[in-house]
Amino acid sequence: MTYMAKDYAYLQGMPGFSQTLLSNHFTLYQGYVAGTNKLAENILSLSSTGGSSSPEYAELKRRFGFEFNGMRLHELYFANLGGDGKPDPGSKAAALLEQAFGSWQQWESDFKATGKMRGIGWVILYQDSGSKRMFNQWINEHETGHLAGCEPLLVMDVFEHAYMTDYGLKRADYIDAFFGCIDWAVVGKRLK
Ligand SMILES: [Fe+2]
Repeated sequence: MTYMAKDYAYLQGMPGFSQTLLSNHFTLYQGYVAGTNKLAENILSLSSTGGSSSPEYAELKRRFGFEFNGMRLHELYFANLGGDGKPDPGSKAAALLEQAFGSWQQWESDFKATGKMRGIGWVILYQDSGSKRMFNQWINEHETGHLAGCEPLLVMDVFEHAYMTDYGLKRADYIDAFFGCIDWAVVGKRLK
């Protein structure tokens, strides 16, 4: 099977995100889908033709997490946008966040602070599938820092392409715009 790029054109018109920024971001995402398909095919081809001890095979294997997570994290990110940013204070997610961080405000402050860290990557609100505990985790690029056995609930892109077209270096303003467009119903459905 091959992965097909999903269509997020319905997000156009979302407050705080220009048409140009979103169009470019969709194109970039489609590149990760193509990259994932190509790598999967090339790895399988080398593996089935006796090439699995070659340096090419090792490098493609190392690269696969970058392409695959680049695809999947963008899908999670776009899917948790398009809402009004208003969480339900009586929701299970709100109760779990208050339990883990002391208050909703403390959780939001920690998530935003993680997003303002120097570097390119992602911020992910993770739920540990075993303990149900929540963590705001920094991901370097696409593949480094993921928490094993945890479910991504809310995903925020902080690569420069996610905001520079509209906000220049003002990453904090982009993060505020992101919070204004979170679809909390989608986040709630990702909870176990
Ligand atoms: Fe991105």
